[in-house]
Amino acid sequence: MMNEKANESGQNVNNNFENKERDTFGSRLGIIAAAAGSAIGLGNIWKFPYITGVNGGAAFIIIYLLCIAVIGLPVMLAEFIIGRRSQKNAVGAFKELAPGTPWFLVGIMGAASAFMILAYYGVVAGWTLEYIVKAISGAFSGMGPQEIENTFAGFISNPWRPIIWQVIFMAITALIVISGIKDGIEKYSKILMPMLLGIILILCARSLTLPGGLRGVEFLFNPDFSEVTAQGVLIALGHAFFSLSLGMGTMLTYGSYIKKRESLGKIATQVTISDTLIALLAGLAIFPAVFAFNIEPDSGPGLVFVTLPNVFNKMPGGSIFAALFFLLLAIAALTSAMSILEVVVSYTVEELKMSRRTATVLVAAIITLIGIPSSLAMGPWAGFKIGNLNFFDFLDWTTASILMPLGGLLITAFIGWHLGKKRVQEELSAEGTIKVNYIGLFMFVCKFIAPIAIAAVFLYGILK
Ligand code: PHE
Repeated sequence: MMNEKANESGQNVNNNFENKERDTFGSRLGIIAAAAGSAIGLGNIWKFPYITGVNGGAAFIIIYLLCIAVIGLPVMLAEFIIGRRSQKNAVGAFKELAPGTPWFLVGIMGAASAFMILAYYGVVAGWTLEYIVKAISGAFSGMGPQEIENTFAGFISNPWRPIIWQVIFMAITALIVISGIKDGIEKYSKILMPMLLGIILILCARSLTLPGGLRGVEFLFNPDFSEVTAQGVLIALGHAFFSLSLGMGTMLTYGSYIKKRESLGKIATQVTISDTLIALLAGLAIFPAVFAFNIEPDSGPGLVFVTLPNVFNKMPGGSIFAALFFLLLAIAALTSAMSILEVVVSYTVEELKMSRRTATVLVAAIITLIGIPSSLAMGPWAGFKIGNLNFFDFLDWTTASILMPLGGLLITAFIGWHLGKKRVQEELSAEGTIKVNYIGLFMFVCKFIAPIAIAAVFLYGILK
């Protein structure tokens, strides 16, 4: 049955053969853990709370949820479809499904984004490791707010300390990715994601039971739409991309490891819901504590590294909760970093015919090297600017504001205008075994809604 279908589509015949050896996720739970692990990251726990704080709270969250449902979910599904249909990496997928066309450039752009994102993501992830150690050793206790701020500024501008942590973080990421999908990424995601959930629930319970904490809940869930700005809407949509790991081939690559019998619609929905719930739980862990201790909710990117140590300091047993919190951040960052590295590794292994081990070591080493100037941009090399951005901000801005939205736009357009309804139907219905009643709507979103909405974010990112 499966082979017949493959024959019908004409292109997959040889491929099925070659791909006998291709690694896949072993179980549904494993797929969800890995894909949710990719989505849930620094974006949820570090970035989502502070952009919510800066953009006025509940009303911003409602708009973010709309963006996730209307744009994010369809883009994720689109990536899963392209990946699983082609059984290839981000570049090979487009070569397979649209041979002889320039569509493969979308994959090249994704691989380039992966290099750039992980270069700075690894640096921030390294900070979380330093902060776990600091918290465990009780370094913050007795420090005043100013001292805590100086400690953070001093640490990130130090010429070598953050780099050592970045190297350690990248090495751990590479060690997991070397072992492949089932025995590496899936296995560790299945251990790390439940840990993450456990820790975040403990932190929520602590935060919500602090006297005065309920004001934080109100800030999160009682909307005031007069606070919404056009800019806030666009930030919300951009963050939906970053948070769901979309537009640069991560979900496409993971999709290629999903077995043909699985329902892609179900998996995309479950991953999207998990990512959103964890972002909300992160808000519930952070804002009640912030309000309980009368700290401003809109303190920006320093919220978790500067504001929270103050909060933990004032709590009984604070250093334990601080250590748990930074461990949570590190775990979230690790499962995301694995997925970013996998985009480039799968491309290098399949298209450049390198062994997985060599590819992983080489790619991780290059990314770490690019990360060094992005770490130094916080200190000794702060004066080196591209446009008006330092190297760290340049990597963040170019990927989040340009490459990811552009990638998402092209991916949905590819589904809507190139792949076509028949092949999409085959993938979504798991080759006719599952009933799907949303194909018309999905194709409409891919053809029109998603590209137009994304174009708006994209233009905003450039014109800003
Ligand atoms: N989604 C991750 C986060 O929220 C970041 C990420 C972006 C991961 C792109 C993979 C690809 O932190």
